[in-house]
Amino acid sequence: MVTPAPAIPYRVASRRAVTLAGLTGAEDSWQVWPHLVTDGSPDAVRAEVAIAGLRGRGGAEFPVVQKWEAVRGPAPRFVVANGDEGDPGSFCDRLLLESDPHRVLEGLALAGFAVGANRGVVFVRSEYPVAVGRMQAAVEAARAAGHFGAGVHGSSVDFDVEIVEGAGSYVAGEETALLHALQGFRGSVRPRPPYPTEYGLAGQPTVVNNVETLAAVPWVLRHGGTAYAQLGTPIETGTKLVCLSQRFRNPGVYEVEFGVPLRYLVETLGGGLKPGYRLRALQVGGPLGGFLSPDDLDVPLLAEALAEAGVALGHGSLVAIDDGITARELLRHVWSFAAAESCGACTPCRVGTRRGRELAACFPTSSEKVLSQQEKLLDVMSTGSLCAFGRGVPGSVRSLLRVYRDELLAGER
Ligand SMILES: Cc1cc2nc3c(=O)[nH]c(=O)nc-3n(C[C@H](O)[C@H](O)[C@H](O)COP(=O)(O)O)c2cc1C
Ligand code: SF4
Repeated sequence: MVTPAPAIPYRVASRRAVTLAGLTGAEDSWQVWPHLVTDGSPDAVRAEVAIAGLRGRGGAEFPVVQKWEAVRGPAPRFVVANGDEGDPGSFCDRLLLESDPHRVLEGLALAGFAVGANRGVVFVRSEYPVAVGRMQAAVEAARAAGHFGAGVHGSSVDFDVEIVEGAGSYVAGEETALLHALQGFRGSVRPRPPYPTEYGLAGQPTVVNNVETLAAVPWVLRHGGTAYAQLGTPIETGTKLVCLSQRFRNPGVYEVEFGVPLRYLVETLGGGLKPGYRLRALQVGGPLGGFLSPDDLDVPLLAEALAEAGVALGHGSLVAIDDGITARELLRHVWSFAAAESCGACTPCRVGTRRGRELAACFPTSSEKVLSQQEKLLDVMSTGSLCAFGRGVPGSVRSLLRVYRDELLAGER
């Protein structure tokens, strides 16, 4: 029997509840769609989202409107909500899918309207069975309420949604792999271009957006792009859901504005670590994100600032690593994860991750030599890999070496 996952605690710590507005009771879903689909225009929807400065929350921080405007080609067009959420330590999509499914569906419908798509798909990872059931029930309720179907709310727009269960691999969350999986193929990556906006599901124009991205869209259209852009910083606008892992005193999902220092998340919201544990490193943004030392917590939650500090924001998970785990165990874990999850479509990553796993197993003997071999391998992977998985693992390994270098070399000289 599968043990149900525990309920996720959540809290809004921004000036306005945006993505968690429904969960906190601040506002119901479906306040925008019935009016916009009858009286609005796709151009106006895109313009408002452009003013908001909304960027994708799936890891690449790509401007939402730029992707929507890149859609080219004839009908049928598709919109896909990416709910694969493979990053260990991320559970904000799960929270939204399970507890506010209508917000995700309304965001998907609005995205579909903006790009002229008549069909939406929500891709939910198979490890989230409760989310699959709730999303399915929400689609049926949305149809019954007239939000989906032919001639929605008396307009000339047809729109419907299907829920599809994911294939269970990390890389299946990458958009081209996800589209392969949706069509019943192996979830492996293909080169881009062509981008899904031109050649996606069944070869038709397709927009893939993350669940959290879509969940912000109804608020943006209800309150206006300007109101959204007043949150966060002028360059990185709005709010972000951040997941704090189990080692924190107060684990859960927090909605915060871009620009807050990580220290505020770790110490004030997270309350530091549970009694008996000492923070040794903070893993930011999952396996492709990277590690920061406890001395680096003044860096703000901004993609650019985090990149300068050598990590990637990714989907916004913060995993507290305590000093009960050694640097070598961590290094082996990162490489083992990479080797196990590499989809195998390109050589630098397929072979490189396996070689990295072998090198990591060589510690603690000959650490200096192994480190130099590993550095060459990281160069090849970061420049030659086909997708952000193989290009992202090196950044994560390098950040780990920065935080734990002395420990990794200890006893070698
Ligand atoms: C290895 C890998 C795994 C990914 N997994 C996810 C995922 O689980 N969920 C997600 O939304 N995006 C994931 N992405 C990013 C997607 O390819 C895509 O950029 C994203 O869904 C677009 O949504 P956004 O523009 O709203 O961010 C992944 C990318 C890579 C390279
Ligand atoms: S980088 Fe890795 S995950 Fe990405 S296509 Fe190449 S083998 Fe697959």
